Amino acid sequence: MKIAFTSCFSATVFAEQPVWRQILAHKPDALVLTGDSIYIDELTHPTHPKAMADFEFFRLVAVKYRQQLAQADFAALIAAVPTYAIWDDHDFLWNECYEEKAIQKKVYAGHIRASRALFNAYCAHLEGKQQFPADDSDARLWSADEPAPGYRRVVMDVPGGAAVHLHLTDGRSWRVNRTLLGAKQRTDIGLAMEAAPADTLHLVASGSVIEAHKGDQWGSFEDLAWLRELAKKHCIACLSGDIHANDFHRIPTDNGRMVYDFTASGAAIRRAIWIGTECQNFGLLEIDATELRGQWFRFGKPAALAPVTINRSNWQLQP
Ligand SMILES: [Fe+2]
Repeated sequence: MKIAFTSCFSATVFAEQPVWRQILAHKPDALVLTGDSIYIDELTHPTHPKAMADFEFFRLVAVKYRQQLAQADFAALIAAVPTYAIWDDHDFLWNECYEEKAIQKKVYAGHIRASRALFNAYCAHLEGKQQFPADDSDARLWSADEPAPGYRRVVMDVPGGAAVHLHLTDGRSWRVNRTLLGAKQRTDIGLAMEAAPADTLHLVASGSVIEAHKGDQWGSFEDLAWLRELAKKHCIACLSGDIHANDFHRIPTDNGRMVYDFTASGAAIRRAIWIGTECQNFGLLEIDATELRGQWFRFGKPAALAPVTINRSNWQLQP
């Protein structure tokens, strides 16, 4: 089984997005998008989105999703490959929304309602459940109590081997102070892992990387201790985004088992969104009954980052 993953793309910055053709050429069984499918706060509008009235904000975001879904190579890929997305800061609200505690501010309730409704509609389109509404007045986009995307789990079967469970986290709706996922989401993930057969491979999709030297990371939150505790018992590999680069990290637990963090970010963006080097990055996991192999690509060619192989039975990196 092959799972492609990447994050961070903007049809406004890059109308041409060859990365999706490069991914399709590998014929993956699934594609996981780990955040920033759109950039709500890119500099395309004279007003910062936080200062917009609710309907103006809604229209801005809706246009961005329609533009991305209309991107020809993206449309061809998602039509051919089951695709799952989570959101990060730029498709939830804007860059500094965590720092300003936007989820606790009443003044942003209308913005959050709109971004939830439009992201949920985007995911439904990606998963082939319903077309993204063509009309802003579509009643499906105007539920007064639109739920957060929240935590979801997708079970995938590996021929001849133990299943893969893809845990789609919502790292933005409850991120405040030192809490990243929130108690309910952590409980739900813990219970799901507990209920799964012991040899299940758990892929945890997260916008933020687990550990890094700077920027958003699980290391700034109490959730990292929780994740490391889970990893003492379960085989956990994270698929993360955000940093506009490919990366790989091993995070040890107290009993020597690892959490592995596979980062692929910068599908169709520049290093600093509008400025800097162009990125065309993605990752590919190949999973069979005995191994998990990860590799990264840049501009359609193997990236400088060396491929890794993890043994599924002892959950150690192969030399
Ligand atoms: Fe990003």
